[in-house]
Amino acid sequence: MMDWTDRHYRYLARLLSRRVVLYTEMVHAQAAIHGDRERLLGHDPAESPLVLQLGGADAGDLAEAARIGEAWGYSAINLNVGCPSDRVQSGRFGAALMAEPEHVAEVTGAMVEAVNIPVTVKCRIGIDDQDEYADLERFVTTVAGSGVETFIVHARKAWLQGLSPKANRDIPPLRPERVQHLKAEHPGLAIQINGGIRDWETARAQLHPATGPALDGVMVGRAAYQDPWLLQAVDPTFFGEPAPVATPEEAVAAWLPYAQERHADGAPMTALTRPLLGLFSGRPGARRWRRILSEGAPRAGSGPGLIREALAAVVPARAAG
Ligand SMILES: Cc1cc2nc3c(=O)[nH]c(=O)nc-3n(C[C@H](O)[C@H](O)[C@H](O)COP(=O)(O)O)c2cc1C
Repeated sequence: MMDWTDRHYRYLARLLSRRVVLYTEMVHAQAAIHGDRERLLGHDPAESPLVLQLGGADAGDLAEAARIGEAWGYSAINLNVGCPSDRVQSGRFGAALMAEPEHVAEVTGAMVEAVNIPVTVKCRIGIDDQDEYADLERFVTTVAGSGVETFIVHARKAWLQGLSPKANRDIPPLRPERVQHLKAEHPGLAIQINGGIRDWETARAQLHPATGPALDGVMVGRAAYQDPWLLQAVDPTFFGEPAPVATPEEAVAAWLPYAQERHADGAPMTALTRPLLGLFSGRPGARRWRRILSEGAPRAGSGPGLIREALAAVVPARAAG
């Protein structure tokens, strides 16, 4: 997610779950080719499994960017065919590409050819007036023909004409049954669902339904940064493995050496506290924690001691609460 799933957020997420598959922010293919690769693609090996999400529409550029991503150690390459922003529409990529399945298949075919890691696609269930199940079916069948075996489907359509990008994440209704139908029709494809999943009971109902096809994965967006502690339950709940940390305090203790190292490398405290802001969401001391970090981080001379200070302020509140 743009502006959220940067390398610092992902490092925190990995401290909370060894199993969750992490995604980068969307990186435009041209940026991966011509831009500052260390800034755009650099990551800690601990973040793996880590998927590089690319945006773009040009087959040659995307194949080249996928090759670069593979060389940088990513576990898979994902093509964004779901983003509805104006900038994305004018560049003829993101969700607008759902109207051009043959073109997308040409792009993904070139990407599949270019790399030895999986190439996956994230899309919507439809766009504008192309929102019948048959439109989704045609898109997926065409793109799967190029060698893509995994689709992550945001279970709401995007209204490219008329709704803002933000409204497009909330207003069109979720239709998870469309994604289930897709899986039923394509048992050989890995179909994952995204949209509105905020707790593991909802996720489990998609992965292990009482009736109907089981989906192959759930992708959690906003809840994963608004309430990152959610991720701590992933390993025990879905993999029968112990969680890497037992409390948010332990996660902060594990984060501190990372923050110290990155701060010494020049990362600003605003970037090193942002992933932590929601860590105590819904728990005693949450507001205080967020306030100390968000007020303190931009101050001149702030350092990782700020995180210790914030923790000391909320731990008594948690003990009392
Ligand atoms: C701030 C923000 C940035 C996002 N950036 C991306 C992105 O870079 N690539 C992408 O595929 N989706 C992006 N999304 C969409 C989410 O991945 C997800 O599809 C959407 O929010 C619905 O899932 P959720 O209800 O779990 O959040 C973004 C969403 C938000 C709120």
